[in-house]
Amino acid sequence: MAIKDLSKVRRHLFFCNGGSCKNNGAEESTVEIRRIITEQGMDEEIHTTKTLCNGRCNDGPIVIVLPECHYYKGITPELAPHFVEQVLKQDEVWPEQLLYEWNAKEMHI
Ligand code: FES
Repeated sequence: MAIKDLSKVRRHLFFCNGGSCKNNGAEESTVEIRRIITEQGMDEEIHTTKTLCNGRCNDGPIVIVLPECHYYKGITPELAPHFVEQVLKQDEVWPEQLLYEWNAKEMHI
């Protein structure tokens, strides 16, 4: 069992690794995003978790970013470097891949 110090975490990523997302490359994109996070020295500030299905199978691979609660679609291994750069390093929304955002009341497209 892993015990990680989460006190420096500023973002938590949930990688959907349900069956449909896996068929669309979720495992490979999870590995690639985690590799880049480590390469960029961001392991302490970015925590990641694999999940089962998040209910948007046709849009996968799905990556959910907290605390913004942004649901990103189609985050394939090829898009992993841009995802890390724009969303995690530049702290910018990626509108073309944004599927939903949470405004504390409801989900928005
Ligand atoms: S398997 Fe990822 S949303 Fe369903």
